[in-house]
Amino acid sequence: MTTLDSSPVTATGLAFPAGFRWGTATAAYQIEGAAALHGRTPSIWDTFSHTPGKVLGGDTGDTAADHYHRMAEDVALLARLGVSDYRFSVAWPRVQPTGRGPAVQQGLDFYRRLTDALLAAGIRPVATLYHWDLPQDLEDLGGWPRRETAERFAEYAGLVAGALGDRVASWTTFNEPWCAAFLGYACGVHAPGRTEPESALRAAHHFNLAHGLGTAALRAALPRSAEVSLTLNLHALRPLTRSAADLDAVRRIDAVGNRIFLDPVFHGRLPEDLVHDTAGVTDWSFVRDGDLAAAAAPIDWLGINYYSPTVVAAAGPRPGPGAGVPDAGPSPWVGAEEHVRFVPAPGPRTAMDWPVDADGLHELLLRLRDELPGVPLLITENGAAYADRADPEGLVHDPERIGYLHGHLAAVHRAIADGADVRGYFVWSLLDNFEWAYGYSKRFGLVHVDFATQRRTPKDSARWYADVIARGGLPA
Ligand code: FCB
Repeated sequence: MTTLDSSPVTATGLAFPAGFRWGTATAAYQIEGAAALHGRTPSIWDTFSHTPGKVLGGDTGDTAADHYHRMAEDVALLARLGVSDYRFSVAWPRVQPTGRGPAVQQGLDFYRRLTDALLAAGIRPVATLYHWDLPQDLEDLGGWPRRETAERFAEYAGLVAGALGDRVASWTTFNEPWCAAFLGYACGVHAPGRTEPESALRAAHHFNLAHGLGTAALRAALPRSAEVSLTLNLHALRPLTRSAADLDAVRRIDAVGNRIFLDPVFHGRLPEDLVHDTAGVTDWSFVRDGDLAAAAAPIDWLGINYYSPTVVAAAGPRPGPGAGVPDAGPSPWVGAEEHVRFVPAPGPRTAMDWPVDADGLHELLLRLRDELPGVPLLITENGAAYADRADPEGLVHDPERIGYLHGHLAAVHRAIADGADVRGYFVWSLLDNFEWAYGYSKRFGLVHVDFATQRRTPKDSARWYADVIARGGLPA
């Protein structure tokens, strides 16, 4: 991987704009390990993963990819890739274990060492403050459905910015609050594993509030030049048909999947149709005067995580008892679950069984071009899991991942040509890691990790991505 082809992108290749940010992304709980070291206390993901039956194979993040101890080696891998940016997350329970009070110096020191190493390698650190690892103590007090958690988050944001603001210029408050609210509190497949529809809506509101309060805390602690952002996993929605019923199903999912965050954060309002659709669940009286204005604190860019499109249709008649339909368990789609069904998109699949469809990313970026003019966009996650194996020579051939990344980068290029203001792209992920409820069974890395030995082996896709970065675009 040290020999990179730096020939210019050919006439038939796709060149990206000068200054385009090329990166990879990771998250603290998925790679760090060292779960009980230097004052770190359990997060909701430690508790959840240690609860039997919650994570495939009983896997936990106790050791993960041992990045806490192998940080220097991992930064060297980033340097060999030639990335301009690296997106990582700060573990709240490592920095402020109980979610209140002073910061733990050893926790902050880890991120100081990481960011120093990145800067020394010429890589811009992009720090996410919350990638799902709430201190368990705060969950015990009520978690995200409780308003005070948003206030605690703002204090934590200020602490971290005060400690790292001299070296980190690019900040993200939250990663995918939709997953944290609805997978965590409505259907319970993520930590903390609650199945309480109203709590999920409360959590969503408190994420918006915490994002706004956190943005204010960051601005107060950081130089004016610092960037503040938010990352959403917006659902790229397609109706099965153009029928009024299918279009209404899309509207419902758009409300509780996308606009529940977009409207407060960019327009300072709640979607009226969402309030109406969820009237049987809550009256939204937990939204206080001033909350939505606080949520709408201006930000510098929006991060988009995209993997697959979602095809939606109106629900058919409900099957009667004994119809042989398995109980799918609680739904994350609060207020919409009775009215919609999801239709598998056609085409090839990744190891997650997610359809490979780069057009969905193009569609999403054009929607944002039209709905959020003036808001720069970064693709903060995109990538694919495949069943990668090292061959006898120790090489990992992952042509499907290269195909996936190529197709999605081409879609980003097309969106830029169509006027979308996309400033960068981060592959999920640098390393194979703890894939939440799937444990270590799904490999998303550009770099293979043997979890028994912690040996890192760059896959073919790592060499391919290094070449793309060196060229500044895609080869023909
Ligand atoms: C996203 C998460 C990230 C990773 C990818 C596959 O939803 O943000 O941590 O698990 O999915």
